[in-house]
Amino acid sequence: MTERVDFSSNATIYDRRHGAILAPEVARALAALAALESGSRVLDIGAGTGRVATAFASFGCRVVALEPAVKMLGELQRKVAGQPVRVVAGEGARLPFPRSFFDAVVLARVLYVMADWQAVLREAHDALKPGGYILHEWGNGDARETWVHVRERLRTLFQEAGVEHPFHPGARTEADVDAHLEHLGVIRSAVLPGGPGPSLTLRQFVERIVSGEFSYVWNVPSAVRERCLMQLSQWCDHTFDPEQSFPMPRELQWTIFRKKDA
Ligand SMILES: C[S@@+](CC[C@H](N)C(=O)[O-])C[C@H]1O[C@@H](n2cnc3c(N)ncnc32)[C@H](O)[C@@H]1O
Repeated sequence: MTERVDFSSNATIYDRRHGAILAPEVARALAALAALESGSRVLDIGAGTGRVATAFASFGCRVVALEPAVKMLGELQRKVAGQPVRVVAGEGARLPFPRSFFDAVVLARVLYVMADWQAVLREAHDALKPGGYILHEWGNGDARETWVHVRERLRTLFQEAGVEHPFHPGARTEADVDAHLEHLGVIRSAVLPGGPGPSLTLRQFVERIVSGEFSYVWNVPSAVRERCLMQLSQWCDHTFDPEQSFPMPRELQWTIFRKKDA
């Protein structure tokens, strides 16, 4: 069975952490880079609470927002009521749409949580019209960032404690995603910088992990979780200045890929 991170427990706080709607200037720039206009068909895979779907619908795009987590779906439906957004319960690796149907497919902050991310990219590619665009926002930092170092230390602690599949079963780096898209034959056509993510001190970051706000701890038995998180806090205090603040991630960016013409 496909492993899936169930984001339901994050539904009520998601918008507070990620922002309720993509900034209009970013959405406009993306629409221009992907030649989207009123009436264009856009598929948002793993749409969450509709942060991106809402922004494209406000331009009159006909958006399909696909999302599997029941409570995220509830927030999504509430938020897009009255907009040209069709909400679909489903999995990214099994898209219930015709081939060559959409003008653009959005994959925002999702590929690191999807164990079958390569299959999702294949489906996204097939659902696109020739000449259509994939809009990808990675959103999960890279190995050179201190907070990522902390997160990966936690992964190691969980693995050493016998947790078989710690958090984020999907793609490990944005470079892996780019390489797979290249393998599918799409052409990288533009990059849109989105600025830094929200800043937190390392102490605040660890406190948020402990509070269960991040998916990192959701599938870990509570005794293991407590022990590993205590070890993480101690390691963090010894290794870094816990009051140092970092944007997480350092840089948000969208990468736009174009499917070849038929
Ligand atoms: C970090 S959220 C990103 C939400 C939204 N794309 C955004 O940018 O705000 C990841 C979302 O991916 C969804 N997801 C996880 N596994 C999925 C799968 N196999 N197919 C489709 N969506 C999935 C989760 O339920 C969650 O809503």
